[in-house]
Amino acid sequence: METGKVNVTITVNGTRRSAEVEPRMLLVHFLRDQLGLVGTHIGCDTSQCGACTVLLNGEAVKSCTVLAVQADGSEVTTVEGLGDLENLHPVQEGFWEKHGLQCGFCTPGVMMTAVELLKQNPNPTEREIREGLEGVICRCTGYQNIVRAVQYAAARLAEEEGRREAAAAGSDGTEGGR
Ligand code: FES
Ligand code: FES
Repeated sequence: METGKVNVTITVNGTRRSAEVEPRMLLVHFLRDQLGLVGTHIGCDTSQCGACTVLLNGEAVKSCTVLAVQADGSEVTTVEGLGDLENLHPVQEGFWEKHGLQCGFCTPGVMMTAVELLKQNPNPTEREIREGLEGVICRCTGYQNIVRAVQYAAARLAEEEGRREAAAAGSDGTEGGR
């Protein structure tokens, strides 16, 4: 190990990643500079914009406010871990369908915040969506289409949940009939 550096191991988007880092390295720099996951953006140096938001052990956090060493042993999900072109996450689909972005700079942070919001509150009102996204600043959209995107995602997630429940009930029925 190089002098002064510490080893951190973080499971990022399902893969264990280890590196020797300066103790002062921020999680956002670990993700971007060590791992090349540049979907997590840096939009300020005052911890206000929220563009750097990721899920840390399932909770939305501004990754510029966390040291990489503090995340040692944790699970992190970045926007790259949400879904891909063939299999978009419902939140990504919502932003696509409802034109929830313009320049896109805030979008990764907004999406990760929305994912946690919908986990906590699967059927939020418009006001609850706006309040839930307060920590992320968008300079372009005026937020209206972001709200629509999150409403779309909520509906899609509810559909998926309904299908899962129906499938579970179906398989119970099959087993019960044997
Ligand atoms: S980069 Fe702006 S809050 Fe983290
Ligand atoms: S889409 Fe440009 S900052 Fe939000």
